[in-house]
Amino acid sequence: MIPQTDPKAGYLAQQAEIDAAIRRVLEGGRYILGDEVSGFEAEFAAYAGAAHGIACASGTDALILALRALEIGPGDAVFTVSHTAVATVAAIELTGATPVLLDVDDYYGLDVAQLEATLAQWPADAAAKPRAIIPVHLYGQAADMPAIAAIAAKYDLAIIEDGSQAHGARLGGIGIGHWGALCAYSLYPTKNLGAIGDGGIITSNDAGLTQRLKELREYGWRERYVSAIAGMNSRLDPIQAAILRVKLTRLAQDTAQRQAIAKRYDAGLAGIADLALPASRVGAEQVYHQYVIDVGPERRDGLRAKLTEAGIGNLVHYPVPVHLQPAYQGRVMLGRGGLARTERAALSILSLPMFPQLSDAQADAVIAAVRAAL
Ligand SMILES: Cc1ncc(COP(=O)(O)O)c(C=O)c1O
Repeated sequence: MIPQTDPKAGYLAQQAEIDAAIRRVLEGGRYILGDEVSGFEAEFAAYAGAAHGIACASGTDALILALRALEIGPGDAVFTVSHTAVATVAAIELTGATPVLLDVDDYYGLDVAQLEATLAQWPADAAAKPRAIIPVHLYGQAADMPAIAAIAAKYDLAIIEDGSQAHGARLGGIGIGHWGALCAYSLYPTKNLGAIGDGGIITSNDAGLTQRLKELREYGWRERYVSAIAGMNSRLDPIQAAILRVKLTRLAQDTAQRQAIAKRYDAGLAGIADLALPASRVGAEQVYHQYVIDVGPERRDGLRAKLTEAGIGNLVHYPVPVHLQPAYQGRVMLGRGGLARTERAALSILSLPMFPQLSDAQADAVIAAVRAAL
């Protein structure tokens, strides 16, 4: 049996260090924020090439806090994709803002042409006014940020990057997080940098926004027991921070492993008729959170069944686009012209096993099983 992902293997790879880190927190006696959290914030920000890090309880909260820090809420339209984890869209609605869901491009990033067309024809009397864009760096590849940044500048929109699937990804030599006012990351166990539980972090280059985010995550406190602004409780647990500090020391090596596995898949799966392998944008350094193939809607479910039968883990990210899920269907606003690529992708893509501890022999077994099935 080859799993699709294996967070426990990540723990076992650094077991002694992680166990020692947990014990350090238990024996240290500081169980909320403190040095472990601020240490992780500084170390992650340095890794991401940002000035500041603000850790919180989850990736969903990271997005909510980022939106709230920019004072986005009721009456504001926020543009993102439907082909994403539902959390991206849920976070927008939880602030009271209105999500507008767009299609994806050939690289599963936000469709820039549709973004521009939707903004150009936005009714002047619409209830919600365009305020922000949340590009999602899906599967480990940056969205088309230079083009998105140009549109944001033209229409005076804020950018919050969703880096949950792309810790360390680069485009044109520039790391994600560079283009947005803020970049939100999930630290969910299966992410490229994953806690042993929930976690999230926001990066920023702005001292004022950083201060506001720290207040928002802890009841709006500037001074203890005095709420300067209306806040919430969303703090990263120090035990998770200590674990993440250990795992961060291996993130570059883990990313290189993911890239090597992707290269092996690319070579082993090349030349299969009507099989699309993950494409890279010019200048993209993907970090392969997922390795997603497109086999076409006719063959996808058959391939899934054969792989499962052969003991090869596989998943679909994501089987139902957000705008077609019961909670959102018929209710959320969509980009002009519809979301044809998104709807097709949900039926035709498949995520193969991808995690740093996957061995060459296992990757070869995956390749052989895909070849045998197609
Ligand atoms: C793109 C994206 N955004 C947001 C989230 C939400 O993160 P979390 O599950 O940590 O709340 C996730 C992960 O689930 C994600 O993949």
